[in-house]
Amino acid sequence: MNYNQILKEIYEEIQPYAQTGEPASYIPELLKVNPDRYGICLRTIEGKEYAQGDSDERFAVQSISKVFSLAMSFGRIGNELWKRIGVEPSGNAFNSIFQLEMERGIPRNPLINAGALVMADVLLSVLDYPEREYLSFVRKLCGNDMIQYNESMATSEREYGYLNAAITNMLKYHGNIENDIERVLRFYFRQCSIGMNCRELARAFLPFADHTRPFSFDGIELTTSQVKRINAIMQTCGFYDEAGEFSYLVGLPGKSGVGGGIAAVCPRKYSVAVWSPRLNPKGNSVMGMKALELLTTKTAISIF
Ligand code: DON
Repeated sequence: MNYNQILKEIYEEIQPYAQTGEPASYIPELLKVNPDRYGICLRTIEGKEYAQGDSDERFAVQSISKVFSLAMSFGRIGNELWKRIGVEPSGNAFNSIFQLEMERGIPRNPLINAGALVMADVLLSVLDYPEREYLSFVRKLCGNDMIQYNESMATSEREYGYLNAAITNMLKYHGNIENDIERVLRFYFRQCSIGMNCRELARAFLPFADHTRPFSFDGIELTTSQVKRINAIMQTCGFYDEAGEFSYLVGLPGKSGVGGGIAAVCPRKYSVAVWSPRLNPKGNSVMGMKALELLTTKTAISIF
């Protein structure tokens, strides 16, 4: 497969969408980023890397971090996690609260905000040094010790994080948060603020695509079956109320973030990360989704 050529063609074919959509504006720090950036990196399980555009520029991974939280909390407490979080698609926005009230404080899945806040709570309870261990896990996954939290991003989010605070309060009311609410929120916003570029994200996601090597990073071990389940959750829940659309257009398990990043895996073949800050109304990168749709169309390979 000539991935270099394919990435080049994709870049040319997505140009008509270059000005479509707006970057997320509800986190002031995100507006400091040039909205016209575009980068992509594909990494095969043989370890070959193909990159294009602004693939070395770091951006806030935002909700992509929910996959790291899932790997860590599932790895640490196993199926106990499913006593506190479901595995059904929500069909609602990432920060929706009404379903949480109707379902009495049990988040639909780990990849919406309510689920990620419960996972932050799980990790606060089981880790000795939560922030340090979380960062260390992500660093090991992508093989780069330079990955950092962006403290001003995290602080800026906390300042305007009224809805996440409401969700955490609702969870606490229903007995699904053990730790202090403020502590949970701070940890969650730090996770979202982690800066990574497309190369680093593609590396970090490769273990979810690769069934030939055991998943073992920084003391977090997942069985092949657990990796399969994480992929299943990404497939059905990774794009909130656009999960069906992403599945239909792209056909890969993946996860988006409001920083404009999308990471996806083609099991047994490759991982791919794409970044472009302009988002569609559902909060997913316009060019990122288009690029991945073209990737699976041109290669004629997806999970289906
Ligand atoms: O909780 C929030 O609002 C953000 N920090 C994360 C949201 C996000 O990335 C949703 N993804 N598309």
